[in-house]
Amino acid sequence: MNEGASPVDDLSEAEAAAELERLAAEIARHDELYYQDDAPEVSDAEYDALRHRNAAIETLFSALVRADSPSRRVGAAPAVGFAKVTHARPMLSLANAFDADDLHDFVARVRRFLNLGEDEPVELVAEPKIDGLSASLRYADGRFVLGATRGDGSVGEDITRNLDTIDEIPKTLTGKAPSVLEVRGEVYMTKPDFRALNERQAAADDKVFANPRNAAAGSLRQIDRTVTAGRPLRFLAYSWGEVSEDVAETHWAAIERLAAMGFQTNPLSRLCADVDEILALYDDLLGQRAELPYDIDGVVYKVNRLDWQERLGAVSRAPRWAVAHKFPAEQAETELLDITIQVGRTGSLTPVAALKPVTVGGVVVSRATLHNEDEIERLGVRIGDHVIVQRAGDVIPQIVRAIEDKRPQGAKKFSFPDRCPACGSRAAREGDKARTRCTGGLICPAQQVERLKHFVSRNAFDIEGLGTKHIIAFREDGLISTPGDIFRLHDHREDLEAREGWGGQSVANLLAAIEERRKIPLDRLINALGIPQIGQATARLLALNYGTLDALRAVMDAAAADRQADPNEDKKPELVGEAYAALCAIDQVGMNVADDLLAFFAEPHNREVLDDLGRELEIEAYEAPSVGDSPVAGKTVVFTGTLVEMTRSEAKARAESLGAKVAGSVSKKTDYVVAGPGAGSKAKKAAELGIATLSEEEWLTLIGG
Ligand code: IVH
Repeated sequence: MNEGASPVDDLSEAEAAAELERLAAEIARHDELYYQDDAPEVSDAEYDALRHRNAAIETLFSALVRADSPSRRVGAAPAVGFAKVTHARPMLSLANAFDADDLHDFVARVRRFLNLGEDEPVELVAEPKIDGLSASLRYADGRFVLGATRGDGSVGEDITRNLDTIDEIPKTLTGKAPSVLEVRGEVYMTKPDFRALNERQAAADDKVFANPRNAAAGSLRQIDRTVTAGRPLRFLAYSWGEVSEDVAETHWAAIERLAAMGFQTNPLSRLCADVDEILALYDDLLGQRAELPYDIDGVVYKVNRLDWQERLGAVSRAPRWAVAHKFPAEQAETELLDITIQVGRTGSLTPVAALKPVTVGGVVVSRATLHNEDEIERLGVRIGDHVIVQRAGDVIPQIVRAIEDKRPQGAKKFSFPDRCPACGSRAAREGDKARTRCTGGLICPAQQVERLKHFVSRNAFDIEGLGTKHIIAFREDGLISTPGDIFRLHDHREDLEAREGWGGQSVANLLAAIEERRKIPLDRLINALGIPQIGQATARLLALNYGTLDALRAVMDAAAADRQADPNEDKKPELVGEAYAALCAIDQVGMNVADDLLAFFAEPHNREVLDDLGRELEIEAYEAPSVGDSPVAGKTVVFTGTLVEMTRSEAKARAESLGAKVAGSVSKKTDYVVAGPGAGSKAKKAAELGIATLSEEEWLTLIGG
């Protein structure tokens, strides 16, 4: 969640760009955890909050929308291991409705769109919304030929061989079927089957699933289809994609036809005449929810007439003719026994509530996430409290609130640790964010694999042949734990050669690839360190500004001394000290980023890693891209006011490609201030300091248009 994050309106352009980069990475990670690993770490609400924040920032800074923006993707890209399938017709998702008003609005919109009179009946089919995962089954001349996951709605994965193992999926259709027919529906697991599966898994020391949906997803996406075959999966049909001829005139009749062809359809579905009837069915299903043999998270309503569906069409990936009426999250009361801290792969410290086991919506819950320090504060919960836990859909349970009236005498406040429980390094709040992160970075065992992966990745050390598998194995065997160890792997040549699957040649190749990178440009080294908020672009700017690692470290020490003397959060950088102000003036570095940098360089463990790398490596100065005889190479430029010919980001990128440094604020070191209309204090300061101020046009002339 983003409690504690700066309001979107307050972000500078550089902060917005950094935030979008962070959000893209974070959302992609959650997508992967959810769709590919079936192991979500955050609640739906938290995930939605991340997407909303991303969308809000993109609305304000439309020029900064990234090519890999989460708003340009839905769901997850196909997992590796399965071929891609482009859906003949996209697999849409559904808009949500939460109350009777939303439903009246839905029907009113349908009427308006179709220009129907007030008394014209609009029949709706109501179907339970089963919480599984959707699949598309293609039949050619009545034979099952291709099965795919939804994927991102346009492209899914070919899981034909896995779907083939599900009994409820007919392999040949009964009776007369269109020669091309794509049937869509939900693959799911019943609650009793899920519990039995988990018992078997636990007995065999295998992965236990959080809920039936995750179990179904994890079972279906198995490279080895015999694993899928052993899992109790089912399929319910509720829709269709490409068809060579019309299936029926109404949705209701179409579903009846699918049933006649051999598909399971939901016997609880109803044909309803109006909103009152669908609301009655909703209440009825909500009442039955706990007793139903499968999880449902709401009811789907669909306009019955297919000619109307056709006319209504879809808007932004959701049909106008259907809506999902969501059930409220399921809640239960229990006791908070303890709070422990979990250190994630990226070093974030997450408080986890240990609960007295309680059944919530048919699942026994004994742990819940508390997200971060602020969340504990916001909830005001103490160890020993009675609390309400919630399971919303398929995510980690959450604590909704503490029941203060029932607070026992000895209930204890939790004090958030300032040391990482995994490595003992200092743990600190990230800038103005709610998350607490371990500063141990490169030495923290909880983070090592992730850090080392980043260290050797393409834009960092780019060491070919040192993949995740190897990092994990080498680390387990004690061959590498810090980055410097990579450059001492040659001392273990014999060990390496003796490993299974390795021969003299592959070891020689790996060691040669490592040797090749002993000489490394400073910007790559900075990027490789995995300092929070410092990616490739900022690493380049730091390298460009400071030239050598020693110089960079000296500046960090000086700036840290300034900051220590004056840790006041709200002050302007200039008031903190000269070294600190100079650091903050670098484009893309504000106080927030500067503080993360200082925290990294101040941590003794990180200093050791740097000393060690200093001994192993030959660090080269960053070479700005070749700029020929650019008139602005090496100059420091500040853009202010509105630019007409190009966006601020383009202007910056252009200037940097010509070897200029772009700064965010004017100082004695500034060479040019490029001021567009509306320029304010920066232009004034330039005038005071006697710095050349150029119009956008003059700037363009200077750099050659
Ligand atoms: S209709 C164009 N019907 O809900 C219509 N979806 O949020 C697309 N779902 O991906 C779907 N039960 O996994 C439909 N009776 C039902 C459903 C249903 C469950 C799921 C399905 C879909 C998601 C959409």
